[in-house]
Amino acid sequence: MQSNQVIVTGGAGYIGSHTVVELIAEGYTPILIDNFSNSHPDVLIGLERILGKVPELFEVDCCDAGAMDRTISDISKRGNISGVIHFAAYKAVGESTEQPVKYFQNNIGSTATLLDAMERHGLQTLVFSSSCTVYGQPAEIPVDESAPILPAESPYGYTKQVCERLIQDAQASRPEINAALLRYFNPIGAHPSSEIGELPLGHPNNLIPYLTQATAELRSPLTVFGDDYPTPDGTCIRDYIHVVDLAKAHVAALRWLQKQSGVCEPINLGTGTGSSILEVIQAFETANGLAVPHQLGSRRPGDITAIYANAEKAKSLLGWTAEKSLKEALRDAWNWQLKLGTSD
Ligand code: UFG
Repeated sequence: MQSNQVIVTGGAGYIGSHTVVELIAEGYTPILIDNFSNSHPDVLIGLERILGKVPELFEVDCCDAGAMDRTISDISKRGNISGVIHFAAYKAVGESTEQPVKYFQNNIGSTATLLDAMERHGLQTLVFSSSCTVYGQPAEIPVDESAPILPAESPYGYTKQVCERLIQDAQASRPEINAALLRYFNPIGAHPSSEIGELPLGHPNNLIPYLTQATAELRSPLTVFGDDYPTPDGTCIRDYIHVVDLAKAHVAALRWLQKQSGVCEPINLGTGTGSSILEVIQAFETANGLAVPHQLGSRRPGDITAIYANAEKAKSLLGWTAEKSLKEALRDAWNWQLKLGTSD
């Protein structure tokens, strides 16, 4: 029998695939559930190169109640399931305003379907991918978990709020559930091996994938969205966290949950340091010895001015802190771009 099995929905995605690597490093056996709707099967090749084997994967849509029930049932019968990590979701803020129904159906639907299947098959431990977007623009930064949940700026943000609530309500009705609601700040970078990383489909909306593609001359120069914000250099401030650090936090959360009885805890996952867009560009240039073609532009609707984490709760509960620097993340992001290809 496999030891310490962990069901990982969305395990072929950006954060999911990095978490699969860290789970194996810590002696767990991940079992992936992914239908590649927002990822690429090639990630399995990268995982095989890092791990020396392809992890087990069930190609299932997490919203398909029948298929999920059968899959979770089959896996549960093996016994020795340490928990479930639920990544599977759509995550593009802009797209969510154009296709809100798709976001509601997929993000909320998959979480409800998963909770239902977990209940029917006696699984109690859940690590959930949430986002600092639930805070909106907090009154105080760094923001901690006691900050109020503000009205969501986008359908995407709303789905994260609803899913958190759904899990809290499920836990209240089934006290044996143990859940961690992990509120990610801005994950960036790639595995240092450059075998896995972010695979943005089409035009990248997030800063780092656009920045690396612009530097690779695959896109027009990066536009800095607004330099008239009330911040020291006028550009927005975010908490950029290396995806490998973020992945490790999931393993720490799982270990912590296995020792709890009846918890549902929101936990920030960030570095605790805010960086402006211009600081990120400069850090990238220093880390990689390259110039980033960029221009100043107007604000992007819906952007908040500044947010970064108070990450003390993750440290005290999970014994986890982010270890990698911004420069390291930006070096890994560029090496991943080199692997994906440049215009040369
Ligand atoms: N930015 C640019 N130019 C670009 C892209 C982004 O200047 O081409 C700026 C944005 O305006 C923002 C910063 O870079 O100030 C970061 O933008 P991202 O799109 O990379 O990230 P966001 O902070 O907007 O959003 C991210 C995730 C969401 C999550 C949110 C929580 O993409 O999933 O953080 O705050 F919900």
